[in-house]
Amino acid sequence: MDPVLDVDWAAHWRALVEARWRGAGHQESFWDRRARRYALSMRGQVDPFLEFLEPWLAPTRTLIDVGAGSGRHVARLTPRLDWVTAVEPSPGMRELIPPSHNLTVIGCTWEEAEPAPADLVICVHVLYAVADVVSFVEKMERAARERVFVVLRDEPHRHPAALLAAMAGVETREPRLRDAFLVLRQMGIAPDLAMFTYPVFHRFESLEAAVDDCRERLGERWDESRGRAWLEANLRRDEDGTWVHDGGSMTSGVLHWQPRR
Ligand SMILES: C[S@@+](CC[C@H](N)C(=O)[O-])C[C@H]1O[C@@H](n2cnc3c(N)ncnc32)[C@H](O)[C@@H]1O
Repeated sequence: MDPVLDVDWAAHWRALVEARWRGAGHQESFWDRRARRYALSMRGQVDPFLEFLEPWLAPTRTLIDVGAGSGRHVARLTPRLDWVTAVEPSPGMRELIPPSHNLTVIGCTWEEAEPAPADLVICVHVLYAVADVVSFVEKMERAARERVFVVLRDEPHRHPAALLAAMAGVETREPRLRDAFLVLRQMGIAPDLAMFTYPVFHRFESLEAAVDDCRERLGERWDESRGRAWLEANLRRDEDGTWVHDGGSMTSGVLHWQPRR
């Protein structure tokens, strides 16, 4: 068997996503409950994708942000574009998206959304939990007039919960950028690729918020006394009173291509 050509990469992707659901439980409300934590954790993070996107930004162009989260990209993109459409299923996340005169927010999943087509479609750190990645990507292609951009990590997540799971040997790996590349190739797409390595950290309102977040993420795999002791030892209190875990460096990338017609 050829280790690349004889694998169904879409099925492989689905198996990775479903194994993670079995490990930690798949709940529609996952992002809703942690919207504020996510927004806090994103504060001050390096975001090389925005710099990368620069050549495509123009006041005449339109963009759809698929899985816009708390709007960290939308906030930076609305002043640079004619119109931005944010598709975000979590009400808690949507509440945090800064309003703008040239922004439409669609409150549902990408699978359910019916947005007007746009010049650019971006999808940043969303696909990890999407089992049917092929139809999700095909819909992004149909919605994009000029270019689709998919951003994913190509290394294990550095969130303390992921590190604790790895240390306990109970980690179920998430799909990575390289898995997405192989799915796209299998679909007949020839994406360009840019990779970035940058520092990452996770910020929590309090030590207890970090414990809650890890407990929730790990489900049955959470060990209260070990987990709490590890967090106490590895988080530091920042000047503003928040608690920070330094995740070292992360390598992520963007797959981008002109949609096929
Ligand atoms: C890790 S956050 C990333 C948010 C944002 N793109 C960013 O980079 O800050 C993932 C987001 O994808 C959203 N999401 C998850 N499944 C989705 C789907 N099927 N369609 C659209 N958005 C989805 C979640 O609600 C969450 O806000």
